[in-house]
Amino acid sequence: MEKPFVYITRQLPKKLIAPLEEIANVEMWGKEEKPVPYEVLKEKSRKATALLTMLSDRIDRALLEEASQLKIVANLAVGYDNIDVEAATKQGIIVSNTPDVLSDTTADLTFSLLLLAARRLVEAAEYIKNDQWKGWSPYLLAGRDVHHKTIGIVGMGNIGRTVAKRATGFDMTILYHNRSRDEKAERELGAMYASFDELITKADFIVCLTPLTAETMNLFNEEAFRKMKSTAVFVNASRGAVVDEKALLKAIQEGEIAAAGLDVFRQEPIAANDPLLTHPHIIALPHIGSSSIETRTAMVELCVENIKRVLKGNTPATIVNR
Ligand code: DGY
Repeated sequence: MEKPFVYITRQLPKKLIAPLEEIANVEMWGKEEKPVPYEVLKEKSRKATALLTMLSDRIDRALLEEASQLKIVANLAVGYDNIDVEAATKQGIIVSNTPDVLSDTTADLTFSLLLLAARRLVEAAEYIKNDQWKGWSPYLLAGRDVHHKTIGIVGMGNIGRTVAKRATGFDMTILYHNRSRDEKAERELGAMYASFDELITKADFIVCLTPLTAETMNLFNEEAFRKMKSTAVFVNASRGAVVDEKALLKAIQEGEIAAAGLDVFRQEPIAANDPLLTHPHIIALPHIGSSSIETRTAMVELCVENIKRVLKGNTPATIVNR
């Protein structure tokens, strides 16, 4: 019997893929940093039993409807807004993601963005490298304190809770907003539930970790930024489209908020000349929330395990569409 075909949309370490090669014909898209063109992915999907995809791959209805052999799309991310899950479910195709294994790493990055923006650390690093440091002075690059301030976490999933845990070490007051109450976080971390409006008005640091859905698209708009403190720092480590980027830039330019730390953008990669990247109070990173060697390895292993399970007729460990 012919082995099933598994298509992987990026180059991944051979030794992590080896377990799949024992049971399937595996092909990887050949270019390290460039995503596979949609038409190539569509063509590969027509004969694939499994796809191992990245968050930058568009897995839409048109692609899924032509993928007659496809059993699983294993997405190398916790977010899966790049996949039409409804269409996949209708076709009987399983979608899996990589939750939990990336929570600590993504929370570390999120909290780093908050610290970088609050203490102006990127500006400070550039300052010394550009030979601008002429001597110590009392308010040189003075940022704002993080400790004993209020953090407001929008989206209290595993990553949100893990960020809250870090905030306890900084003696912060923790507010959160979520679709449902998180009694464990309230009990164990002292987190307090707040309405969206209450959170954005009271928090010194507003951290966006909510998944991108029809309801959260443009959640952070002109009105939301207007309600924030003029000293507020906004951090986004979820998805770019949750934020109206023009409104964010305007809010910073007009002093409605103080700074922002962004790991995600509506258009990725964002153009280097985008006005968002030129503002000194906006710190931008190239979507590296879960990018540590240990965590990316664990994520690949989880995708491989999920595909293996489905090829053997079992349910994956982390299924999105039960
Ligand atoms: C995810 O997994 O969805 C994150 O955005 C990766 O950094």
